Amino acid sequence: MSSIEYVASVEKVTEVQLQGFFVGWPNPPAPATHLRLLGCSDYVVLAIDAVTGRVVGFITAISDGVLSAYIPLLEVLPDYQGQGIGEELVRRMLARLRDLYMVDLLCDPDLQPFYARAGMRPATGMLLRNYDRQAGRL
Ligand SMILES: CC(C)(COP(=O)(O)OP(=O)(O)OC[C@H]1O[C@@H](n2cnc3c(N)ncnc32)[C@H](O)[C@@H]1OP(=O)(O)O)[C@@H](O)C(=O)NCCC(=O)NCCS
Repeated sequence: MSSIEYVASVEKVTEVQLQGFFVGWPNPPAPATHLRLLGCSDYVVLAIDAVTGRVVGFITAISDGVLSAYIPLLEVLPDYQGQGIGEELVRRMLARLRDLYMVDLLCDPDLQPFYARAGMRPATGMLLRNYDRQAGRL
């Protein structure tokens, strides 16, 4: 088990700490782009390995600050999965959003039980993907 610290800000994070994310994405955002999207999100929670200083998990939310929030991204690095870090990131993010009416996210059916444990329920949704922008807006 690693010693993990959770922080709700990217203020002190550098792109050097952000290696290895977007596993399986054919055209992943670069660490600098990752840092940019974290900084532009309304809410973030990061899991940091207290020994190495490496960011090993993150979750983001964007919100209108009145009624609604959307959680676009959650990822835990493969070597750190299965230790409860993902669940803790979701728990901390939902705690920060608890005074909003609606909190939505999209996930594959196999992950619905994971989010259900955090109090969410299944829904249907729609999406659009511009794959030529997978690495981020120019
Ligand atoms: C989903 C994810 C964030 C979970 O992080 P984690 O730190 O491993 O989660 P926890 O240790 O808190 O919980 C693990 C539980 O999540 C569930 N889970 C994780 N990934 C799963 C998957 N692909 N399918 C089904 N269940 C999954 C399992 O129930 C698992 O329980 P187990 O440890 O008893 O097997 C991580 O697997 C990940 O980064 N996956 C790739 C990116 C991704 O799918 N993000 C979510 C987008 S909606």
